[in-house]
Amino acid sequence: MNARPPGRHFLQIPGPTNVPDRVLHAIAEPTIDHRGPRFADLAQSVFAGLRRVFGTAGPVVIYPASGTGAWEAALVNTCSPGDAVLMVRTGWFATLWHEMATRLGLQVTMLETDWRRGADPAAIEAALRQDMAGRIRAVCAVHNETSTGCTSPIAAVRAAIDAADHPALLLVDTISSLGSIDYRHDAWGVDVTVAGSQKGLMLPPGLSFNAISARALAAAETARLPRSYWDWRPMLAANESGWFPYTPATNLLRGLREALAMLEEEGLDSVFARHARHAAATRAAVAGWGLEVQCADPRDHSASLTGVRLPEGHSADALRALILRRFNVSLGNGLGMLKDRVFRIGHLGDLADVQLAGTLAGVEMGLRLAEVPHRPGGIGAALEVLAA
Ligand SMILES: Cc1ncc(COP(=O)(O)O)c(C=O)c1O
Repeated sequence: MNARPPGRHFLQIPGPTNVPDRVLHAIAEPTIDHRGPRFADLAQSVFAGLRRVFGTAGPVVIYPASGTGAWEAALVNTCSPGDAVLMVRTGWFATLWHEMATRLGLQVTMLETDWRRGADPAAIEAALRQDMAGRIRAVCAVHNETSTGCTSPIAAVRAAIDAADHPALLLVDTISSLGSIDYRHDAWGVDVTVAGSQKGLMLPPGLSFNAISARALAAAETARLPRSYWDWRPMLAANESGWFPYTPATNLLRGLREALAMLEEEGLDSVFARHARHAAATRAAVAGWGLEVQCADPRDHSASLTGVRLPEGHSADALRALILRRFNVSLGNGLGMLKDRVFRIGHLGDLADVQLAGTLAGVEMGLRLAEVPHRPGGIGAALEVLAA
């Protein structure tokens, strides 16, 4: 086997995503003193840029941690032992957040789905109306379920909480949507938004975020789940002057400043439109192949990734392995109950039309070589969308 395949690897999993050279170069600059004046300037410019991307005038906390850390931070800063929380099992990541909440001692009510659509605001409203005593402390929703490629209508979830006249906080995971799909923390009435660096923000893994509403900040004053590293209060106090209570991930923050500049140069609306076009082109290819998209409700189709179902009796993992070996393209695997049934095409982050076209060409050649029943030529349908 060739030790090094020629050309560039195509990292088309739904995150971590391709890191632009500009961001890599920024990360490669010498590490600076995290208690010196240059660092404070860096931190303040990153906080300002993040507020624009989250759509908030409130604080955004940055952890040197993967997204899972920011999930934990959202829960331990707002909840107390034994609190009830309402979640929706939209897929694998909602399931992992549920497991974490249970391990932390929260009482989780889980609304089930078939993993082929987003959260149903009417079901959330009905569950909240049954909670006469107001025991539910928080509603937790995954904006873009990375395991399925289905989004949830967050503004409608907030409207459902308000329609039930329920005091629950709204905690939203935007790990695979922030910077790829329209999102508005303040306008949609979200209390804590959880995000990570390695997807739409075009950075390597290693940073995660909480955007925090005034109501969530007030809840943190009385929440009693144990917390130390994740505690917002010392973090926000230090952030005031551009410091962190512990050593920040200095070089990743350099990269973040560059990534935020790139998003602003392209314009967030153009970034969202590019992702929507790429998603439409990908779905056109899947339909052209005669295969099925995992997300069954067109209103919930994700602009960050597309899950593709394989016909009965065919292994999605064998197909992915073949495409990696022959074409040097990495695709996402099926998770949880979708293991080996589904593969996922990531089209989030820093991606150009021809990179997507190359990825889809790799998939089509793979389908042929793996003898998966399909109609050839789906790539042509995708090119029509991209060239339109
Ligand atoms: C929607 C969603 N939530 C949570 C996570 C967990 O984040 P991490 O793996 O960075 O801890 C992921 C990871 O892919 C994700 O896609």
